Amino acid sequence: MPAIVLIGAQWGDEGKGKATDLLGGQVQWVVRYQGGNNAGHTVVLPDGQDYALKLIPSGILTPGVRNVIGNGVVVDPGALIDELAGLDARGVDTSGLLLSADAHLIMPYHIAIDKVGERYLGKAKIGTTGRGIGPAYQDKIARVGVRAADLLDAKILRQKVEAALDYKNQVLVKLYNRRALDVDEVMESVQAAGRQIEHRIADTRLMLNRALDNGETVLLEGSQGTLLDVDHGTYPFVTSSNPTAGGAAVGAGIGPMRITRVIGILKAYTTRVGSGPFPTELHDAMGERLRKVGGEVGVNTKRPRRCGWFDAVIGRYATRVNGITDYFLTKLDVLSGLEKVPVCVAYEVNGRRCDEMPMTQTDVHHAVPVYEEFPGWWEDISEARTFDDLPANAQAYVEALEGMIGARVSAIGVGPGRDQTIER
Ligand code: GDP
Ligand code: IMO
Ligand code: MG
Repeated sequence: MPAIVLIGAQWGDEGKGKATDLLGGQVQWVVRYQGGNNAGHTVVLPDGQDYALKLIPSGILTPGVRNVIGNGVVVDPGALIDELAGLDARGVDTSGLLLSADAHLIMPYHIAIDKVGERYLGKAKIGTTGRGIGPAYQDKIARVGVRAADLLDAKILRQKVEAALDYKNQVLVKLYNRRALDVDEVMESVQAAGRQIEHRIADTRLMLNRALDNGETVLLEGSQGTLLDVDHGTYPFVTSSNPTAGGAAVGAGIGPMRITRVIGILKAYTTRVGSGPFPTELHDAMGERLRKVGGEVGVNTKRPRRCGWFDAVIGRYATRVNGITDYFLTKLDVLSGLEKVPVCVAYEVNGRRCDEMPMTQTDVHHAVPVYEEFPGWWEDISEARTFDDLPANAQAYVEALEGMIGARVSAIGVGPGRDQTIER
């Protein structure tokens, strides 16, 4: 049976946690395939309790689902233990959570370098989450990373940490004027954490392939979003992994032909956290309204999210680079009560109309949205459960977006709750 990929179509925070939870009852496995604890995925259970998941797949809240942190994820062992403890304290069964032996570890020096590196960039900073994500992926690509399986071999772990610190301490002390990290201290903290998670380390690639062979369904839960992808996003203002659909096969260790459905999660407007271009960003009272009504504050870092209108150029782009089969359109309820709802249908770049994502970073920075206005609706739609329950103008808005982004909207979010969803 199939693998289903679920990915953010914009700059993250589209509602992937809710969407994963919604599908939880239909799948046997949920796998995170990239990113790390830079993510913050919110799930609101039917009893009203809400959870903010960072590193652990959102399927953990569905009893019976098996959850995997895949090889493509970077894992801060201490953060994983804290997150597990938080869930355990709330009575969530986390005993089955597995961690790929090949997942790279975020080490204390990665976090130190992420934070100080951003400070040195000054105005050019990326606005990272400061969780050590970028430096950990740098080491993975440079082939000097530490992997989960290394926690099982103290000798190898020490060799790797010593070799890494030889170099990292030069960077921290000589380049950034910071204190050197002590090998023994780093070893102690990583091993202490390792002892608490080593029983979870597994050959998850083999397990997932066997599950697929046995007809089980695997949901691949992306974090971040298409425009934060290191290849396809608004580089360099991106994260250091591939959230796009192609990354799912790599980050879980399954063949791409296993994937039969690619669901894009798309907010009915646009948000972004951190630096970088954002053509439809609103710097006025309307931006403030979206932030307030939409509750647009980062789950993870508590930073206010930048807000703006829906951007169909981005939607089209996401459909294309991910091969989206259908979309979940979230937060349509947030747009209730507006006289008109503008949608960016194209950009104007240096006086020229541009229907697709501009090729160069400079042109993305200079892109001015070309808006088309759609009539709004006044009704509270949070109780709508069928497409026909929606006001005619809300229906027309959804249908117009489908036309512009070139894919069907198969579900619509009208509130944070699991049941506040219209399935079409
Ligand atoms: P993720 O990172 O993609 O999982 O998204 P976040 O959890 O960071 O942010 C999405 C926020 O929107 C969360 O607070 C969700 O509870 C909330 N949310 C999700 N879908 C809807 C929806 O359809 N309507 C409303 N009003 N809130 C939603
Ligand atoms: P979820 O999964 C929104 C952003 C950061 C920064 C950039 C790089 O909840 O959608 P990093 O720490 O990854 O090196 O930061 O990426 N970013 C996110 N923005 N949602 C996320 O995750 C994000 N994860 C990282 O704000 O701009
Ligand atoms: Mg989030």
